[in-house]
Amino acid sequence: MAKKRPAGPLEMRLWGDPALREPCSPVALIDDTLRRLALDMIETMYNANGVGLAAPQVGRHERLCVIDVPQDAEKEEYAEANAAIPMPLVLFNPEILSREGTQTDEEGCLSFPSIHAPVTRANTVSFTFLDAQGTRRTYTAHGLLARAVQHELEHLDGGVFIDNIADRTAIAPKLAKLEAKTKRRLGID
Ligand code: NI
Repeated sequence: MAKKRPAGPLEMRLWGDPALREPCSPVALIDDTLRRLALDMIETMYNANGVGLAAPQVGRHERLCVIDVPQDAEKEEYAEANAAIPMPLVLFNPEILSREGTQTDEEGCLSFPSIHAPVTRANTVSFTFLDAQGTRRTYTAHGLLARAVQHELEHLDGGVFIDNIADRTAIAPKLAKLEAKTKRRLGID
């Protein structure tokens, strides 16, 4: 999920890049190399003013994503409940255990600069993952944080947020332009 243009230390993969469609594999051992990758992903996410980033967005295929939803960005009614979840989150092999309710809101993605569209998702999710130390954590998130968890985990299966949008008419021209530009740069068609 995103607000602005991406910037290092890792190169952001944009819509049209096949890396975004490749499903990720579970991580067997969380070592220093993967911890370094997670830190670089956090820095890349912050530099781009994003609240989440998944491995395929930087051309990697480990089941790994990072999330940091600032408390002041959260809907007031959920800020307190979500505050129990420490940020930034480093999620290895994350899984959603349960979903409850629905919410519809504008969504974006660092791989889709300046493209936003309303997406309906569960309002509350319980999820489990291994943190950077390999310790299992299980939390329940609401509102924007719940949205971020669903958005980032979708990336790990080769999904992107626009897959949830039945009518893409409004964003179709921007999508086509971005895809063409990316493919031209990568030399693919
Ligand atoms: Ni995204």
